[in-house]
Amino acid sequence: MTAIHRAFLLVMLCLWGLSACRRAPEIFSAHPTDTLTLTVRSKTPSSETFPAKPTPVYPTPKFPTCQPDPAPAFNPGAYSFMPIRPVSNREGDAPSLRQLAELRRFYVGVSTAPQFLDDPGYAELLAGQFNMLAAENAMKWEVVHPKPERYDFSQGDALVAFARANGMAVYGHALVWDLQQPDWLTRGEYSREEWIQILCRHIKTVVSHYRGYIYAWDVVNEAFQNNGALRDTLWLRKIGPEYIAMAFQWAREADPQTLLIYNEFFAEGLNQKSQAVYSLVQGMLQQGIPIDGVGLQMHVWLWGPPTRHELLANMRRLAELGLLAHITEMDVRTQYSRDSQAEELTVQAEVYRQAFSACLEAPNCNVFVAWGLTDRYSWIPEHTGQPDAPLLFDRQGKPKPAFNALLDMLRRSP
Ligand code: G3I
Repeated sequence: MTAIHRAFLLVMLCLWGLSACRRAPEIFSAHPTDTLTLTVRSKTPSSETFPAKPTPVYPTPKFPTCQPDPAPAFNPGAYSFMPIRPVSNREGDAPSLRQLAELRRFYVGVSTAPQFLDDPGYAELLAGQFNMLAAENAMKWEVVHPKPERYDFSQGDALVAFARANGMAVYGHALVWDLQQPDWLTRGEYSREEWIQILCRHIKTVVSHYRGYIYAWDVVNEAFQNNGALRDTLWLRKIGPEYIAMAFQWAREADPQTLLIYNEFFAEGLNQKSQAVYSLVQGMLQQGIPIDGVGLQMHVWLWGPPTRHELLANMRRLAELGLLAHITEMDVRTQYSRDSQAEELTVQAEVYRQAFSACLEAPNCNVFVAWGLTDRYSWIPEHTGQPDAPLLFDRQGKPKPAFNALLDMLRRSP
């Protein structure tokens, strides 16, 4: 590549930097991609690519608030992860998925856990191919707030430190969910006002601890049943349906910059559940409750996943509200064997390709996260008791047809 080409690409990247959405942490310069000559469309959603959120039509409710609990601050210096030179930065290597994504200011990520990061092969694959990591379990209530007066951020801090050392964005998961809650919560006996303070202080303490290090938070996770009714969660019972709006309000009070996401499964296409999610977020916007987007988890099977058409239609109607649509937890169950047969892997690759294609086309989708890096560490076999091969890399960390399909898409798409 000539110096002129290199200069032109750097100018393009700088121009994208100027148009970057207000919260994209500057991680794209961490791994210079000036070895590539593709000119592609930036995927950073901005007011030019979809409308601003509507002006609230109802008065914003005045919820009770709180101060964060005293808790240890995040100390990036406490961890000594050395930056990993992504495999594809060696001369002559083919560009990695993250390098191609970064040309579009697009995030490709996987969920992970701190105990995997000490495996050099795993760490190099993670940092080499992805520019985002999601906290699979490390930031959930049972881990970070195991006792009423005790917080333990060590697992999440390790993930953030690794991400910072490798120029990766972090997806925080999840501030409010009805699973993986500690006994002191699920067996607690409190008044409604006390429950409100407990939830408020948890959210503000966790979000404050990670302020400045989290690209987006799953503020509330999975509040609906598949029929579109609210799930009978601890928080619905103890506070009422307004717990959702309260959670977003408190997260915004704790961090004015991070993106605030409502995250859900089986609500990717057009169905009762996605309609319920759409009505929820539309109502929140009308009341001036701070929310930036919806997480479409995409936990699907080989057969019968949401079609590209309905996924795109759902994304587009969220874009019309001025909201982001992220693919946050994709995996595609094969359910048949530990290392699935060739034809199953081909079908699986097409399912990933369709979802990735919809995200690339939608004006408001700039995040694509798989729920795990390799089949070896997927949550699904433990959950079902059956072997499975749902992810982009096999048990040995080798790329599968699904990974190559995503790479090929980024290489080809404008
Ligand atoms: O931490 C304990 C450990 O101390 C104990 O020895 C061990 C015994 O089995 O269990 C460990 O807890 C496990 C936890 O993951 C941490 O590894 C739980 O048993 C296990 O049920 C839990 O599974 C997680 C699951 O959420 C819980 O429902 C999965 O790893 C995680 O991938 C999965 O992720 C969820 C998202 O958060 C929300 N969307 C759906 C997605 C899949 O269910």
